[in-house]
Amino acid sequence: MKKTVNHMDNNLETAQQFVEEMNKKISGHPWRPVYHVSPPANWMNDPNGFCFFKGEYHLFYQHHPFSPEWGPMYWGHVKSKDLVFWEHLPIALAPGEAYDKNGCFSGSAIEKDGKLYIMYTGNVWTGPDHDKDLQQTQALAVSDNGVRFTKLAENPVIAAAPEGDIHPHHFRDPKVWEHEGQYYAVIGSKTKTNQGQALLFRSPDLINWEFVNVMAKGEGNFGFMWECPDFFHLDGQDVLVMSPQGMKPEGIYYHNLHQSGYVIGTLNYETGQLSHGPFQLLDYGFDFYAPQTTIDNKGRRILIAWMDMWESPMPTQSCGWAGAMTLPRLLRIKNGQIVSTPVPELERLRENEVYYTQVMVEGELALEGISGDHVELELVIDAQAASRFGLKLRVNEERGEETVLTYTRDDSLVSLDRNRSGQGPGGIRQAEVPLENNQLHLRCFIDKSSVEIFINGGTTVMTARVYPSEGATGIRFFADQPIQIINLKKWDLK
Ligand code: FRU
Repeated sequence: MKKTVNHMDNNLETAQQFVEEMNKKISGHPWRPVYHVSPPANWMNDPNGFCFFKGEYHLFYQHHPFSPEWGPMYWGHVKSKDLVFWEHLPIALAPGEAYDKNGCFSGSAIEKDGKLYIMYTGNVWTGPDHDKDLQQTQALAVSDNGVRFTKLAENPVIAAAPEGDIHPHHFRDPKVWEHEGQYYAVIGSKTKTNQGQALLFRSPDLINWEFVNVMAKGEGNFGFMWECPDFFHLDGQDVLVMSPQGMKPEGIYYHNLHQSGYVIGTLNYETGQLSHGPFQLLDYGFDFYAPQTTIDNKGRRILIAWMDMWESPMPTQSCGWAGAMTLPRLLRIKNGQIVSTPVPELERLRENEVYYTQVMVEGELALEGISGDHVELELVIDAQAASRFGLKLRVNEERGEETVLTYTRDDSLVSLDRNRSGQGPGGIRQAEVPLENNQLHLRCFIDKSSVEIFINGGTTVMTARVYPSEGATGIRFFADQPIQIINLKKWDLK
């Protein structure tokens, strides 16, 4: 290997100091998450380089350290021993080389010979139009300890998008993995006529890459560009995750600006083509984008996504920060679909358990001890003969604030309504959820400015950012005819 560039990281240190100063000013702000990863200050988007390295989980993220708006991208960094408590580390990557001078865009991480390699997209603006005037290449940085990274002298290691029906400029977000002694990377792309696609590359050493094939391509309503692809083997099948930009709404689905989902199939490593089934969403809420997965030392496939959406108002920007990550979710395939559940380690956050059993609800009901703005609720509802029932979270009666989850029997829909959630964007998102034995099982994670609802064991998940007032801590249950809450547990989450 050639000598690596010795980076003075001037940029990086200035950025780090700036963020640390800002952090002192914003800590304790009422919308700051208690147990979700969020930036120390200023802007965060996509999870990057999620990995398990030397006994710890590392998570990097797209970061603009100088303002709560998107800008030239750095890589922020946190690590954790247990996926529950995260420690902030110094910023890992700063833009500055000729090939990444306008941003170190999204990418992934892999361990090789005891070192941690980051593969990311170097972004360069070649003119004023950020859709057309861009040059995106793939670059590497390496670290012995997982904290300080050095960009390789060989960069960019993939200097241009391949020939063919491949857009020359939109070429980003490499996800790298190892298979039978070779390295593979899947990279986000689009055709020259604006259909999203994922490109497969192969390398013996992470430095020399050859293009294998278009792994999968979107046809019909499948987005004009696929961002942040991910690929893994799970429960005997291959899964390609991608974030298609600009799918059009179809019925109750695809109402966010961009989607994130997956296809299940089989990758032929010789031809580089994936034969696969239909696109399915990973989350049916408002705020879920650019998910990335890793596999840990227990062989578990774990996913984290950006818990926001492009171009959706973010009221926290006026408080000096923006962006958060979802909870780490454990993925399994069941009945041809991905099921996601919060990793079990999150139970370590629980304290002050409150338990109820066999509670009848008709009309609206509040229960003593069931309230809060950073809590977990777990409940099983027997729907009995009710045609409409659900719960209200983050209720502030005086201000008329509430975030409402409603089940309607006639169409089997769960609706998450944030039209009265406080500040920020409103809207309703829906998902079709069959009752199981006439029951609905819910696990709700509330954290200051977010709700994540895992329905029927994680077969459907709905995630939303909400920005209620500080007093919005009420929780209510409602039903048009009697339902029975078979059991209900609530914990404060520390
Ligand atoms: C997805 C994305 C990526 C890109 C990054 C830039 O949210 O647009 O495609 O690498 O964000 O911050």
